[in-house]
Amino acid sequence: MNKRDFIKTLGIASTATFLSPITASGFKIFGDINKKVLILGGRGFLGPTIVETFLASGYEVTLLNRGKTNPELFKYIPVIICDREKENKEGLKNIDKKHKETYWDIVVDTWQKSPKAVSDFLEEFKGQFGHYHYISTISVYDKWDKKFIEESEPLNPLPKFPKAISEDFRYAIRKTFAEEAIRERIDNFTIYRSHGMKSFRVTRPGDPNAEPFWPIRFYRGGEILLPNVHNHHMQVTDVKSLANFIVHCSASKIYGAFNVASNPTPFKDYVSSLIHATDMPKKLHWIDGDFLIQNGILPYKIMPLWRSKPVGAYYFNVQKAIHAGLVNRPMVEMISDQLEGYKSRYPNNDIVFGEIVQGKQMKYYASTKEKEVIKKWLSRPK
Ligand SMILES: NC(=O)c1ccc[n+]([C@@H]2O[C@H](COP(=O)([O-])OP(=O)(O)OC[C@H]3O[C@@H](n4cnc5c(N)ncnc54)[C@H](OP(=O)(O)O)[C@@H]3O)[C@@H](O)[C@H]2O)c1
Repeated sequence: MNKRDFIKTLGIASTATFLSPITASGFKIFGDINKKVLILGGRGFLGPTIVETFLASGYEVTLLNRGKTNPELFKYIPVIICDREKENKEGLKNIDKKHKETYWDIVVDTWQKSPKAVSDFLEEFKGQFGHYHYISTISVYDKWDKKFIEESEPLNPLPKFPKAISEDFRYAIRKTFAEEAIRERIDNFTIYRSHGMKSFRVTRPGDPNAEPFWPIRFYRGGEILLPNVHNHHMQVTDVKSLANFIVHCSASKIYGAFNVASNPTPFKDYVSSLIHATDMPKKLHWIDGDFLIQNGILPYKIMPLWRSKPVGAYYFNVQKAIHAGLVNRPMVEMISDQLEGYKSRYPNNDIVFGEIVQGKQMKYYASTKEKEVIKKWLSRPK
C-alpha cells in the first residue's frame, strides 16, 4: 500500500480501527503538506478525532496537555507537557524553548474550563502561530427563544473578564468569555459553536450516564416507546463531521464563527436512522407526548432528544457552516460509531437506565417503566 492509499484508508476508517496502525506499529505520518499543528488537549472526547483527522490529512501533529488523560493514545506523537491551569502562565512559561520558538501553522484549542487559560495561551504564544481554532458551543447565545438562530445573534452578557484562572463561571459564560478573549487578541481564528456532540467516545468514560440512550435502546430491540409529538425535531453534532470541517477550514483558510451541527432533523427521520443502524427485531409504539408527560416520561430530562422549550433548542441555523464546507455525515454512520464505542465499553450490553445502581441514579427511564407506559397506552379508553 503506498502512502496515499494508506492515508485514504485512514480517512474512511472508524475511530477504533484507525488508532491501531499508528499506536501499534509506531508508523508516523509526516505532513505531505508540511504544516505543523498544535492540538491543545487532544486525548479526551473530541480531541482524538481531531488528531486522527489531521494525521490522516497529512499534517504534522503535536499535542499539548498534562499527560494525564488517556496517555496510551497517540504515543508516537510528540507531546508538550504543560498545565494550563497554573496561575500567572507558569505552565506555559516553563515550556521548552524549542517549542516556544516553533511556528505553529495551526492551533486547535478544545479548552472548556477557565477562559483565562485561553487568553494566557494567546498572549504567551503571540506571533508564534497562524490559524487558531476554538471549540465553542451554541450555549454562548443569550437567548434560544426563536428558531434558526444565526451567528450574528447576541451572545451572553458578560461580567468582567476573570483576572485569575481560578475564577469560576458557569459553562456558557466561560465559553462566551473565551470567545471574547479570542476576538480581542487575534484575527485569524475559527470558532465552532457545536451542539450536543456525539461520537464513538463519550465525554465521561466509565460513567454509564454518558452513554448514548437511543442507539443503545434500538440496539436492544423489543417493544420500543417513542414520543409522538407534532413538529418534533432534533439536532446534534457528529464529532467526525466537525473534525473534517476543522481540517477543511485550516486548508481553505476559513475564518469566523460557525454554528456546527446537523440541520434540524425530524425526530422520525432520526428513528429511521436508528432502525437502519441496528438490526434487532423491534416494534415501535408512538405514544402521544402529553400521555408520556402525564406518566412521568418528561422531555429532555427523562427522554433525550425531545425538547419543546426553549423553542430554538433544536433549530440552530447551520447554513453558514454548510456554505463554508461543513458536510454532516449520514446520521446512520454517526449512530453506528456511537454503538461501536458502546459495545467496546460494555461488551455484555448490560448498561442500566433509569434505576439506582450502586447508590447512583442512572439517567433516562427503566425498561420496566417503558413496558408499564406502553401497556397503559395500549389499554387506554379510546
Ligand atoms: N456541545 C457538546 O455537546 C459538547 C460535548 C462535549 C464536549 N464539548 C466541548 O468540546 C470541547 C472538547 O472537549 P474534550 O474533552 O473532548 O477535549 P479533548 O482535547 O479531547 O480533551 C481535553 C484535553 O485537555 C487536556 N487538559 C485537561 N486539563 C488540562 C490542563 N490543566 N492543562 C493542559 N491540558 C489539560 C486533557 O489532557 P490532560 O488531562 O492529560 O492534561 C485532554 O487531552 C470542550 O471545550 C467542550 O466544551 C461540547
